[in-house]
Amino acid sequence: MRNLAVPFDFETPALRQIGAAVARVNGINLAQGLCLLPVPEVVIEGAERAMRAGNNRYSLAQGVVELREALAARVSQFNKIVCSADSVVITAGSTGAFEIVCEAFLRPGDEVVTFIPFYPYHRNTLKRRGAVVRYVPLERPDWGFSIEKIRAAITPKTKFILITNPGNPTGKVFSMEELRAIGEVAKERDILVVTDEVYEYLTYDGRPHVSMASLPGMSERTITMGSYSKTFAITGWRIGYLVAPLLYVDLLRTIGDQMFVCPPTPLQHGVAHGIVNLKESFYLEQLAKYQRKRSILCDALTRIGLTPNIPQGAYYVIADTSSRFPGRTSGEVVDLMVERARVAAVPASDFLGPEVKDDPLRSTFVRFSYSVPDESLIAAADQLRSL
Ligand SMILES: Cc1ncc(COP(=O)(O)O)c(C=O)c1O
Repeated sequence: MRNLAVPFDFETPALRQIGAAVARVNGINLAQGLCLLPVPEVVIEGAERAMRAGNNRYSLAQGVVELREALAARVSQFNKIVCSADSVVITAGSTGAFEIVCEAFLRPGDEVVTFIPFYPYHRNTLKRRGAVVRYVPLERPDWGFSIEKIRAAITPKTKFILITNPGNPTGKVFSMEELRAIGEVAKERDILVVTDEVYEYLTYDGRPHVSMASLPGMSERTITMGSYSKTFAITGWRIGYLVAPLLYVDLLRTIGDQMFVCPPTPLQHGVAHGIVNLKESFYLEQLAKYQRKRSILCDALTRIGLTPNIPQGAYYVIADTSSRFPGRTSGEVVDLMVERARVAAVPASDFLGPEVKDDPLRSTFVRFSYSVPDESLIAAADQLRSL
């Protein structure tokens, strides 16, 4: 039969094949951000209790009231975004949130400005919708950027600037000044800012997490996407959310309803139970755990000559392989790692797409994830010595 599918220039990420290759040798997968940490007991209890109490039906499309109220309180306190339960929409992960945002604001040919390296799901979602993506480079080592390049990338067709803060794969944590500058451009050009803050609790070395929507005049033009996938280690539950200007909430809620009716009802209750009952110490302990994991991995990489770019946030490290493996491409180094050390990382080219050609990031850098138990990380560090 004829192939009737709509063509889409999707590149299969190297991540998938590498995951399969490392599984074949029973190795340690640091390629994917799997988030293998334990789920807080109180979150499981809340979901189980909800199931037993009969909360197994569709919820309101906007999400269960308990979760929206818990989130509004949390987001007001931690993110300093002035909001109420009415401005929160619960979504199928932050991935679902971004689908809704794109459906609401983009038609083929519309434009989005974002940073490169990027989180590949963002780029692919935008491409799938026929959006034109204009990239502004983040420059190593601190992943700074030129505000003038952002200005220059905006055209009359631009709908929003997309930020991932903290970033994947860069680990970049945007400072207040950087966000202010981006916010001013968004105001000048009357466009939205869409921000993905799924790693909001993981900012290291005392850096604060600043939410774009908390800045003066920005809540009315910012859509904040969040998720408990990472914070509660429940990537398979698919519970995320949007905090949006009230003007857009009806539209966003209706699109969510059309796409997936509602996120799983008892699991929404589980997350609400976690947010209400976990104390501030939980978030601080998570951060301390991840900061320790960052040290274990970065120290090991430094020892074997894969120079790490120390992340400011999130749980990924980009490392330069060129001094340890001169003349080899990042893809070759990844294959070697799987073969000799039974540890997987992913070539940084997965985060550049075909858009960036000559940057060493493409040729010699790889990304590791450290969202695994300490034992696995220590074992991976040991195995990497045999490279
Ligand atoms: C930047 C970023 N956004 C979103 C996600 C996916 O989040 P969710 O599970 O909430 O869809 C990830 C997962 O790796 C991510 O790195």
